[in-house]
Amino acid sequence: MPMQSDKNQLYRDLGRQLQSLIEGEPDRIANAANMAALIFNGLPELNWAGFYFTQGQELVLGPFQGQPACVRIAWGNGVCGTAASRGETVLVPDVHVFPGHIACDPVSQSELVVPLVEEGRVTGVLDLDSPKLARFDAGDQAGCEHLVAVFLKR
Ligand code: SME
Repeated sequence: MPMQSDKNQLYRDLGRQLQSLIEGEPDRIANAANMAALIFNGLPELNWAGFYFTQGQELVLGPFQGQPACVRIAWGNGVCGTAASRGETVLVPDVHVFPGHIACDPVSQSELVVPLVEEGRVTGVLDLDSPKLARFDAGDQAGCEHLVAVFLKR
């Protein structure tokens, strides 16, 4: 695992790459697909990276990289639904002790979910899964929140 300063640098670089990938492109699905690919290939020790988007009382699977995943998650369910209903990032060091965790890929051990908040509404979530326990820390949370901010600003 990189040192914290390396990690900050990594997220800054990813933010710049994301910015240039999505600049001038209004299509959200295309931009989400490129962002999922950028994260999945740019961050170490991930087995899944992608989006769920809000549709009514559910989150519905969007662009991602990794194994096929569950398509619909009820608002408030699992790590994704919890982050969506709270409107706050949820960092889970060990998914096995998170009540209601939805196991899409049994390989996943830890998870980080950042909500997409636009004009006070949660329009979806960015979800990262790792095969390593406690893969994500506060630096990853800040880094991923930065990437989501870049994604939403375009
Ligand atoms: N584990 C998530 C479900 C989505 S998959 O990890 C891709 C959850 O508990 O909400």
